[in-house]
Amino acid sequence: MAPPLSLGAFAYKHYEACMTFDALRYAGVPLAFESMLDIGSGFATLPRTAWVRNYARDVTALDLFPYGESALTNRRTRQLLALVALAERLRLRQLSGPFGKWDSIVARENFTLPPLRATGKFDYLVSDVFDLAGSHDWINSSLTLTHFDHRELFPKVRDLLTDGGIFTFTVECWWYPINSTQIAGMAPYLCQRLGLDDLTRYFETVQPDIDTKKIADVYNYYRDPSHPTASDYVATAVKNDLHPIFVHRHMNTRAHSKRAAVPPAYLVRDIGDGAQNALRDIHKFKPGVLLEDLYTSHYLLGFRKVSP
Ligand SMILES: C[S@@+](CC[C@H](N)C(=O)[O-])C[C@H]1O[C@@H](n2cnc3c(N)ncnc32)[C@H](O)[C@@H]1O
Repeated sequence: MAPPLSLGAFAYKHYEACMTFDALRYAGVPLAFESMLDIGSGFATLPRTAWVRNYARDVTALDLFPYGESALTNRRTRQLLALVALAERLRLRQLSGPFGKWDSIVARENFTLPPLRATGKFDYLVSDVFDLAGSHDWINSSLTLTHFDHRELFPKVRDLLTDGGIFTFTVECWWYPINSTQIAGMAPYLCQRLGLDDLTRYFETVQPDIDTKKIADVYNYYRDPSHPTASDYVATAVKNDLHPIFVHRHMNTRAHSKRAAVPPAYLVRDIGDGAQNALRDIHKFKPGVLLEDLYTSHYLLGFRKVSP
């Protein structure tokens, strides 16, 4: 049993979900699906919100583990959405914290009250996506693609998607100066500039107090050895009849962030080395990486399946 999701944690995840809802709205895709599948749901904030708001009649949240069954229920989602809407009415988003920090940049219609009544059914399924059959007109996956090799996952998504169906995902970008491996050394973009062998040698020589086994574990946590860029995702998607409808990049506009203490724009000014130098090193082994990939913390991509 996982402990219930707190309001703060919900507000943060709600913001992430709203970014996906907004991207669909701005792409002109009506939030009126028949059947939605969310791959790697975790606490299932996005699929539960989509269901409570009636963005999809039937919703299946899927994960290898059951913690999202108890951490958040549909009833609790309604209550938390009501609190988030109240915070909006009272303009609490002007404060700092999960409300103020992020919620102000998503559309205000995400904060309407009361949430619509769901009409279909909601399932939380504990299973591996590769064991799944069925057909859906919206498949989403939030912050989960790092668990997959996208070249294996996309054919499965194509098989699970109806013709004309939509595939959306948010994914961490490997190419941000400090990605969620949290591996940092003396130079920015260290784990992007070096393969694992060189990275291990770097730490053995320069910072021998660091446990290189732990470095290897987090490095290999990213299941996709191709460390895809947005262009790689699009190329693989198109091979699988999934055609892009939006490609968004999340870039950090602030001078300080929890993830990368010095965000890309400030690297040259503050530590004398920046994205352009890193790109020269990276191009020696992956020429397709763009300068803007080095400024991108997350990609948010959307596709429509069009069968030939
Ligand atoms: C980082 S969590 C993301 C959770 C949630 N979507 C979010 O945005 O907070 C990734 C989730 O993917 C699940 N996962 C990994 N491989 C999977 C697979 N093959 N089939 C289904 N779920 C999987 C993991 O169990 C984990 O809960």
